Amino acid sequence: MRFIAKLPVAFLVLFVECAQGQNNKCELPRDKHVYIPTYYFKGDLKLGAKRSYNCLPGYRKLADRAMCTQDGWKPDPLCSEIMCEAPEIPNAQIIGIQKKNYRMSASVQYHCLFQPELPIQITCGPEGKWRGIQACTDGTCQEQELKNVKIIFGYPNVTAPYSSGHVLVFLCTDDNMKMYGQRAIECQSDNRWSKPYPQCRGAVQCSTPSRQLQFVTLLNEKDVYNNLDFLRYKCSSPYNETSEGALMCQNGKWNGTFVCTSRTCPPPPYLENGDYIIKNQNNDVITEVHYTCQSYYVLSQQKESYKCENGRWDTPPNCLKPCSINEAVEMYNLQPPGENLYVKHNSKHRLNCTSGWIAGDVIKQTYVDVQCSDGNLQIDKSCDIERI
Ligand SMILES: *[C@@H]1O[C@H](CO)[C@@H](O)[C@H](O)[C@H]1NC(C)=O
Ligand SMILES: *[C@@H]1O[C@H](CO)[C@@H](O)[C@H](O)[C@H]1NC(C)=O
Ligand SMILES: *[C@@H]1O[C@H](CO)[C@@H](O)[C@H](O)[C@H]1NC(C)=O
Ligand SMILES: *[C@@H]1O[C@H](CO)[C@@H](O)[C@H](O)[C@H]1NC(C)=O
Repeated sequence: MRFIAKLPVAFLVLFVECAQGQNNKCELPRDKHVYIPTYYFKGDLKLGAKRSYNCLPGYRKLADRAMCTQDGWKPDPLCSEIMCEAPEIPNAQIIGIQKKNYRMSASVQYHCLFQPELPIQITCGPEGKWRGIQACTDGTCQEQELKNVKIIFGYPNVTAPYSSGHVLVFLCTDDNMKMYGQRAIECQSDNRWSKPYPQCRGAVQCSTPSRQLQFVTLLNEKDVYNNLDFLRYKCSSPYNETSEGALMCQNGKWNGTFVCTSRTCPPPPYLENGDYIIKNQNNDVITEVHYTCQSYYVLSQQKESYKCENGRWDTPPNCLKPCSINEAVEMYNLQPPGENLYVKHNSKHRLNCTSGWIAGDVIKQTYVDVQCSDGNLQIDKSCDIERI
């Protein structure tokens, strides 16, 4: 009888030990800088369970998540203090005693050996990088990349280094160009060149216009037109009330658009990023159109048709631009959507904050709603609060 009575007890002990062996090595992280709600660790933690964790402010995590294994958490959930290394700024001297490392939010001041003159204060930011660094000059004016110009004279010479008082004189590389700005620049005592810099323009070319070509015949068609070149055109019937005209290429742009008109109406106004469908025509003269926009663009007003009356067209609508989500997400700490995402004018879209950040400190919101307004993304909040 005694022998039989002992058996279940032995079984029980064995079972508890086994269960403990599986569970109790994955406990609260040893590192007291790990921030994690305690309920996270309560209950049954099975081998293989994964947990992500965060660190207290001023610390950063060494891994994204840890897994519960027979030997405890792998990797060990650790946080390391955010530190900035001693700043290395060329041509500068740190004010005060220099340390090897600085804690987050610590400030350091330095002054430049040359320019700028006032001391500069920098702060160790939450990425472990210094914020507010301004470069110091090396006592010379830097070489500038200037387009379409060549140096024809330099005092004392034409080559770098250029120190205070150094003068360079320029000419346009192309004889057809006109120079704007200063012909000569001087290296000033603040190690900047005097402004405005020389600029050469004029021999900029124009390409064949691409709009409203259905109403004209080009009389001297070319791929490119030089500055001050004419583009002569003939208006096609029935828009040949004025039979021909010319456009002039001025600094890379045509000085206007084709002027063609019929006895009753000019051609329908051109819509940028859109097109029209002819709804009514009178002896080939278009008198009524319906406007559409290319995909993702939205009409500024929903009107079925636009008419030409007494030789004048109703004011056409606009095509309002979509917003690119991908361009905006990085600025606002948002998770990028998988592929390139466009949102139409007036449409809303919900985006998650990048992990570790939230929007709003009253309601801990992990997303923001964005709305598009003619190409500008409007964001009600930004994910600028670190989740702890
Ligand atoms: C140009 O002038 C500077 C300052 O006067 C001088 O140090 C440098 O050697 C000169 N360079 C040449 C190529 O003459
Ligand atoms: C317009 O062109 C048509 C067809 O070529 C021609 O019959 C008409 O006379 C022209 N109108 C004007 C005003 O030149
Ligand atoms: C463009 O220039 C040409 C040639 O000088 C001129 O005939 C035409 O009227 C100009 N167009 C505009 C819109 O100013
Ligand atoms: C945003 O987060 C929610 C809740 O965590 C999730 O269900 C959703 O899939 C996420 N959306 C995207 C686009 O990642």
